[in-house]
Amino acid sequence: MPLFALIPAAGSGTRLAGERPKQYAALAGKPMLWHAVRAICVPPVEHVFVVLAPEDRAFSRHDWSAFAGKLEPLYCGGATRRDSVYNGLVAAMAAVDADDWMLVHDAARPCLPEKDLESLIRETEADEVGGILALPVAETVKAVAKDEAGVQRIDRSEDRAQLWLAQTPQMFRAGLLAQALQRAKHPVTDEAGAIEQMGLKPRLVAGSRENLKVTYAEDLAIAAAILARRR
Ligand code: CTP
Ligand code: MG
Repeated sequence: MPLFALIPAAGSGTRLAGERPKQYAALAGKPMLWHAVRAICVPPVEHVFVVLAPEDRAFSRHDWSAFAGKLEPLYCGGATRRDSVYNGLVAAMAAVDADDWMLVHDAARPCLPEKDLESLIRETEADEVGGILALPVAETVKAVAKDEAGVQRIDRSEDRAQLWLAQTPQMFRAGLLAQALQRAKHPVTDEAGAIEQMGLKPRLVAGSRENLKVTYAEDLAIAAAILARRR
């Protein structure tokens, strides 16, 4: 059964505020995107699509020879992550069947452990809907609202037992995912969000904190430390 992966990498990294787009931020001597590809480009994943901004000039300047024949850049990124994933899926459909599994992974998660990828695939392969890596929330969570003076105040405490943090990869059948992203009426920040809007309930597979999302500059140092420990 063929397995494909798609990495949206057409963002600009506003919150990281680096000198180049976040996917090309330097991490352990390589662009961050290289590490995200390395983490997902392992059997049984046969082929990895990377969705780039149409005006991307950085990708072709880096060395991708470690993934020769398995990595395919698609210059069709859009204005939002949803648009980039959807455009990439449409372009990939030339080589992918609607029933094939597609793993969507963020360029911003360069430390995905191999055992997490294995659990996701093992537990989701037989699922009717599909599944995602996620983590039970460890901290206490507060819902907040600003008072008249503009100060953030606690409105209430959430029941942490029912809250998980969504990670990537997120694994769905390519055809179902394309349909869900096309039809989504409300904004979505992940694939599962679009599938949920179809009334389906994706499976959660427990991941780990090592699979952190690099969002702010300080996250880069944590990612570098995780990668250094593995070498
Ligand atoms: N992404 C994309 N196309 C967009 C926006 C985001 O392909 N229009 C990708 C990013 O490149 C990243 C992933 O989606 O791999 C997750 O997005 P995020 O971490 O939010 O990255 P950015 O959008 O680049 O960062 P920011 O939100 O801080 O601007
Ligand atoms: Mg973003």
